[in-house]
Amino acid sequence: MTERAAFGDWMKSVQAAIEEAMASFLPRETDTPARLHEAMRYASMDGGKRVRPLLVFAAGELFDAKHDALARAAAAVEMIHAYSLVHDDMPCMDDDALRRGKPTVHVKFDEATALLVGDALQSQAFLVLADGDGDVVRKLAMVRLLASASGSVGMCGGQAIDLASIGVTLSLEELEQMHRLKTGALLRASVLLGALSGKTPSDLETAALDKYAEAIGLAFQVVDDVLDATADSATLGKTAGKDAADNKPTYVSILGLEESRLLAEKLRSDAHLAVAQFGNKAQRLRELADLIVQRKA
Ligand code: IPE
Ligand code: IPE
Ligand code: MG
Ligand code: MG
Ligand code: MG
Repeated sequence: MTERAAFGDWMKSVQAAIEEAMASFLPRETDTPARLHEAMRYASMDGGKRVRPLLVFAAGELFDAKHDALARAAAAVEMIHAYSLVHDDMPCMDDDALRRGKPTVHVKFDEATALLVGDALQSQAFLVLADGDGDVVRKLAMVRLLASASGSVGMCGGQAIDLASIGVTLSLEELEQMHRLKTGALLRASVLLGALSGKTPSDLETAALDKYAEAIGLAFQVVDDVLDATADSATLGKTAGKDAADNKPTYVSILGLEESRLLAEKLRSDAHLAVAQFGNKAQRLRELADLIVQRKA
């Protein structure tokens, strides 16, 4: 039996693979319109934790998915994520000047470019999925999954609820719904895209992955809210304290810090339980659940 690499080494290798995949799947900076292509790369390369690609690769391990298929699915979901961040930071949304330790796209370039970067990254993501080899029915399922997770019943829907909730007191159920959509949906899609990149998962396996994804998806945004309230901007690479300053309902504002941390811990153990049936093969998924909850940035 081959030795499994240490988690940190595995993470670095996936991060390097995603960097290479993004470089090859994005239009070249010298191609016209060069400024837009430069800004697309600025927004999506050389930065971020790459949690969604890591989830794609970790889930792919359960179904013996091939590296190239995983790199393609991971690049697609990361492009959607990068687009969501560019738009999230625009003055009409969270109005943020710092992202991944650099000036945001609308600050570095301009607002119209930021809008177009988001639009073009979104289109590119679907192009990347559509261009993959393999079974067309499977590819269509992947396109459908990513489209649904990104749209009005996924990330965009969550963003709409977020913006409509400024200064509003949400119930815990409403807050959870917002988090599931704005962040959970794309994380769930990452897990399922990884699975769909390999041998077909059974219904039972898909249900287990769904449970796992549900738990880590919510945990991710609970921790994002906690870090916004507790970490500094240099560590986060984005402006800390922004949620309270903007009067956004968050887990911290509704449950308080301690309860939020306890909830994240509970979700971590739910995630572990959900993938217990996969045994050793789910080690990366368990390690990622730990990373998502215990991260400091
Ligand atoms: C930030 O996502 C936005 C949320 C969905 C909470 P990440 O924390 O994954 O951001 P990067 O990709 O590491 O920059
Ligand atoms: C954004 O949530 C989630 C997205 C869909 C981009 P936040 O607004 O909390 O993300 P950060 O804190 O700016 O990264
Ligand atoms: Mg936001
Ligand atoms: Mg924001
Ligand atoms: Mg946040």
